[in-house]
Amino acid sequence: MLRSPLPGSRASSLPRGFAGALYIDFLARICGLRGVKRYFEIGVHFGHTLAAVSCDTAVGVDPGYILDCNVMQGKRRAFLFQETSDRFFAETDLTQVLGGPVELAFLDGLHQFEFLLRDFANTERSCGPTSLIVMHDCMPLTAEMTSRDSAAPRSDPEPYSKMWTGDVWKIVPILRRYRPDLQVHLVDCAPTGLVCVTGLDPASTVLSDRYLDIVGEFAGIPSTEPEIGAMYAANPIVSAASILTGQDQGLFFRT
Ligand SMILES: C[S@@+](CC[C@H](N)C(=O)[O-])C[C@H]1O[C@@H](n2cnc3c(N)ncnc32)[C@H](O)[C@@H]1O
Repeated sequence: MLRSPLPGSRASSLPRGFAGALYIDFLARICGLRGVKRYFEIGVHFGHTLAAVSCDTAVGVDPGYILDCNVMQGKRRAFLFQETSDRFFAETDLTQVLGGPVELAFLDGLHQFEFLLRDFANTERSCGPTSLIVMHDCMPLTAEMTSRDSAAPRSDPEPYSKMWTGDVWKIVPILRRYRPDLQVHLVDCAPTGLVCVTGLDPASTVLSDRYLDIVGEFAGIPSTEPEIGAMYAANPIVSAASILTGQDQGLFFRT
């Protein structure tokens, strides 16, 4: 992890950047290492992450696809749903479409924490005890990139001004507080980290039962440097290389 100050900017208590594998490469590698057959992705956009993973069956959900690559690479079949993740989960049995529990899920849809919370809880229902959920953009490098509005005016210097994580970093303290049974790993993938969760319990209803309480509580927590810094201080960052080589956290990641 690189430390502040930001180039051409003021000092910051947040990481300046992450030196691990690019998130898309980590995802593809972990998918291969785990021999994933059933892959699920929310937020497909151009299709770059979906194209990068090899598996038997893939399901992708996005209300606005702009596919510009061959997402079938390395796959037997793929099902694409052009709708919001909420509508998808309301109308579709993910386990049935995949032909079994999700083995690896990549959550990269709308970058507002209550959306990611619902995506996580809904995805976990289709997971098994050895599944892995990976979430993107939960490790911001500046407070400004956590704005809930992707079009908000920016004063961060480049390259930060081009990054938008929204406030999905809040999923980390939410899971720590409400789901202490989960293993939550912050991985130093470039550019804005990956948060990987194992020890999933498809029978758990805590997040849906407490959904309104959680949203009310965390909506009141500002996305300021001290709050985000406290999240980093409470959560060690694991190196992507150590996971990919099976040296660290290999048990949880089953590499
Ligand atoms: C950051 S992009 C995903 C990028 C892709 N995973 C990658 O790394 O190449 C976020 C995507 O989330 C989609 N999205 C926005 N709102 C959504 C929602 N409610 N449900 C699912 N996807 C949503 C957007 O259409 C957009 O394509």
